[in-house]
Amino acid sequence: MATTGIHSPGRAKIDADTLRTDRWWLQPLGVFLALTAFVVYSAWRVFSGKYYYSAPYISLFYSPCLSTTCVEGTEPGGPISWWMLSPSLLIAWIPLTFRFSCYYYRKAYFRSFWLSPPACAVAEPHSAYSGERKLPLILNNLHRYALYLALILNVVLTLDAVLAFKTPGGKWGYLGLGTLILTANAVALWLYTLSCHSCRNITAGRITHFSKHPLRYKAWTFVSKINEHHMLYAWISLCTVVLADFYVYLLASGRISDLVFFSA
Ligand code: FES
Repeated sequence: MATTGIHSPGRAKIDADTLRTDRWWLQPLGVFLALTAFVVYSAWRVFSGKYYYSAPYISLFYSPCLSTTCVEGTEPGGPISWWMLSPSLLIAWIPLTFRFSCYYYRKAYFRSFWLSPPACAVAEPHSAYSGERKLPLILNNLHRYALYLALILNVVLTLDAVLAFKTPGGKWGYLGLGTLILTANAVALWLYTLSCHSCRNITAGRITHFSKHPLRYKAWTFVSKINEHHMLYAWISLCTVVLADFYVYLLASGRISDLVFFSA
């Protein structure tokens, strides 16, 4: 007998899985398709190991490029000499862990992939629930540590966006479509990261009197404000990540040239 869910003892005896008559399945289906497309795209780019740099732009999946096999010109390049696989694999696990353990994405993939439950007031097909107490989902508790690493990565990606204002020859004073895309991506990533629920805890956790910590109160107020839109930033930044990487891919593979607005 089911121990949890609508068929467990003590719940009203209703045979239907849901009494909802709207198209509740549209949202989980849309999320399923979007996240699947993202996973397939990023797997292709992360494992490919090529077309990730076209001066002055570097793909975020490969930055910082830590292997000595990184293409010339990537910043900082090296120092890991024993790594023979795609250099992206040294870095990509950080944003992957961060997004996978994100409170919003957890809700999204629990609903759309595990159907647990697929939507509000719709019964889930599982008869037992182990929560996040076992492997692999217990690893979601590492979210705060993934946040620390993601913050460091954001600094690097912001630096990449700043360096995108240099000409391919290395002179300051350049504005191409790639500059705008990399800058927009850095902004979106900061909004997504700083609106993280763990950030609220970092800024105001263990405080009993806000009046004694005015700076932390200010930080918490800011984080709480943007936290209201965390889901939106999660999706916007997912799109800018793909856009930024794909633009660099198109340039690096020679399929297009950068649209240049200004060059010193
Ligand atoms: S809760 Fe989404 S990034 Fe932390």
